[in-house]
This record gives sequence, C-alpha cells and structure tokens, in this order.
Amino acid sequence: MSGEVFLNGQYVPYAEARIPVEDRGFLFGDGVYEVVKIYRGRPFRLREHLARLQRSAREILLELPDVDWEGVVDRLVRGGGLADRDATVYIEVSRGSGPRAHHFPPAGTPPTVLALAREFPGVPPEYRERGAAAITHPDLRWARCDIKSVNLLPNVLAKEKAVRAGAYEAILVRDGVAIEGSSSNFFAVLDGAVVTHPEGPHILSGITRAVVLGLARDLGYRVVEAPIRVSDLGRASELFVTSTTAEVMPIVSVDGNPVGAGRPGPVAASLLEAFMRLV
Ligand SMILES: Cc1ncc(COP(=O)(O)O)c(C=O)c1O
Repeated sequence: MSGEVFLNGQYVPYAEARIPVEDRGFLFGDGVYEVVKIYRGRPFRLREHLARLQRSAREILLELPDVDWEGVVDRLVRGGGLADRDATVYIEVSRGSGPRAHHFPPAGTPPTVLALAREFPGVPPEYRERGAAAITHPDLRWARCDIKSVNLLPNVLAKEKAVRAGAYEAILVRDGVAIEGSSSNFFAVLDGAVVTHPEGPHILSGITRAVVLGLARDLGYRVVEAPIRVSDLGRASELFVTSTTAEVMPIVSVDGNPVGAGRPGPVAASLLEAFMRLV
C-alpha cells in the first residue's frame, strides 16, 4: 500500500509507519477499533462509529486522546486518492507500549492511535445475485462482545473455518442460539417478521444493524429483537447478515442446507435497496 497513515497524531508514509514491538495491541490484543465505510469519498455514519469507539474505550478503561477524526478521515481519503472511490478507514487505539505485564502500564503512557484508508471494491457481485453460504460454529468468545476489541481470535478461527468450507460467514452459536456472524450481525425472516438478536453483551451493536432495523420499520416490516434459535433456521424464509463492508448480505444456505428457496429473498432485497439509497 502507498500513501500515508495517521499514527499518533502524525501523517506518516505507509512504509515508514512503526509501532513498538511491545505495543499492547500486539502483545495482549489490548485495544479497540472501528471500520468505517467510505462511499465515493464520503464516510457513512462516522459519528456513530466514533461514538462506539468512545464507548468501547470507556468499557476497557482506556482514555482516548483528542483527535479530530473527521479531519483525519477526510485527509486519509483525499490524500490517498480515494475522493471519488469506495474505501474503508480502519481506526485502532491500543493501550500503548511498555514492558510486558498484564496490568495497565503507568498512568500517562500514551495510547497508540492508528488510522489508515484502503480502497474497498465492495461486495463481489455474485454474492449480490446468488447470495452467500454460511456455516454454524460454536461461539467461543468472551462475555463482552459488545466491546469492539481487537482481541478477535475466536472470530478469526470461525471465519477461517467458513472460508475453508467455501462459505462467506460463520454464524456463531451459543446455547442453541444463532447469536451473530464472526464479523456481522445475523437476521432471520420468521413468520414474516424481521428478527435479530437483542443488543447486550453477546453481540456487537452493529452500526449497519441499527440502520437496517430502522429501514425495516420504515418499510412496514414487523421487527423483533429476540434470540434466534438454531432449531428455527430451517423454517426461516430468509436469512441475512449485516455489516459495514457486507451491507445487507443474503445467506442462502447454512451448513449446506438451503434457506427458503435457496435464493436471495424479497425482504433482504428491499432492505439492501433502501440501504443503498442512504449511502
Ligand atoms: C462481531 C461483529 N458483529 C457485528 C459486526 C457488524 O458491525 P457494523 O455494522 O458496525 O460493521 C461486526 C463488524 O465488524 C463484527 O465484527
């Protein structure tokens, strides 16, 4: 990658950006992050992403430094030649660096603050047309999945299992409930209602999830925020996942079993259409 990244208050050429070897993000996964989608040079729901970053940081007792994030995102996008492109901006703040010890470093240790923009070509068109496959996978994560922490090993292992099975996403299952995807929120259409897991410690409160729930209500669908049992997946007329990068992605098979007619359904299609009008 060429261009500049934002690192600790400075703009640095990508190839010259350096993070100390004892950074706590590297040693412990001790940090929080966000991924913001840029549509034709404009960030989508940046304020909401920044509010979630603040919340994640607060929940892990990490004080965020003052950063003009709007200005940073704008400069990375424009400076990276992405002013008329689709891209993502990745933001990470770790608890800084210091001699390896589990407890926090001394007060005053500056956090490491990184942001970088990358062109993002978007969802492959075949997923849009034919939908995507998913597998189920045990949810091996901790009890604070509402914090967007960089500690993503269970998510990484589940996604890799999906990829190796030729699938797009792993739906994480806890106590018989399909909680969310490894990097997405999970929705089912059951008895005509749009159903998704309620907010709480077991899911990340997706920015896209909130937008899509609002659109579903606007479109007149009945919306239910309740656990989705794996035993109910077989009778769902549609399944889909939402995320910043996947937008609204129809899931047409789970563990090799077709969902509904095995094609993207009308509810997901109408939500995606409404979503694309917003961006
Ligand atoms: C575990 C998990 N759930 C849900 C989401 C979707 O969140 P958002 O719509 O804010 O991208 C993500 C996004 O990365 C995620 O990692």
